[in-house]
Amino acid sequence: MLETERLLLRPWRADEASVRREMWIERDPRVPPHRRIDANGHPPVEEFEEMIRAEEPSSVRLLAVERKVGGDTIGYCGLVDSGQGARGVRGPELAFEFLRRFWGLGYATEASWAVLDWARSSGHERLWASVWDWNTASRRVLAKVGFIETAREKSNYGINVVTTRSL
Ligand SMILES: CC(C)(COP(=O)(O)OP(=O)(O)OC[C@H]1O[C@@H](n2cnc3c(N)ncnc32)[C@H](O)[C@@H]1OP(=O)(O)O)[C@@H](O)C(=O)NCCC(=O)NCCS
Repeated sequence: MLETERLLLRPWRADEASVRREMWIERDPRVPPHRRIDANGHPPVEEFEEMIRAEEPSSVRLLAVERKVGGDTIGYCGLVDSGQGARGVRGPELAFEFLRRFWGLGYATEASWAVLDWARSSGHERLWASVWDWNTASRRVLAKVGFIETAREKSNYGINVVTTRSL
């Protein structure tokens, strides 16, 4: 469990699967289709429940972000092991996503600082993050918590900005 002034970060509970799915519903149409809910409503909430049940305790994982006041779950922030070796940057990836109604309130920045501390105390020396070039809000959060652009990669879905930060 991580704690900030306004937030608690902790493992997901299976009964919060609908929050995870809602974030997928809200995703920008420029996000690749396999990471959004399709016209048939797939993936269903049961798949998100299964994903949560499969998540093991680890120092590299995504944590649910809960507001201390109200106790509602508003998004996630944490670390992902997503093949950083391919980019030549050692260390896990920082990732975050919040329900749209909670954007612009500084939550992603606040949660990210806590995750940076957690990563440092877990022994990681460097994090990286990749973000679509059009994702101004995410790029701004990464800049605020000290990530620096190191590369740009073109894929079938657009341009990814690769950033890194030493701990
Ligand atoms: C990216 C995201 C997590 C940001 O969450 P948030 O809680 O709103 O972030 P914060 O409030 O901490 O900071 C957002 C910053 O971006 C800025 N910003 C947001 N939209 C912007 C825009 N269109 N143009 C310029 N700046 C923008 C805000 O002003 C703020 O910067 P500031 O503090 O200097 O004013 C949220 O937009 C989100 O969930 N997006 C969808 C998922 C996603 O993109 N995840 C990242 C994948 S790499």
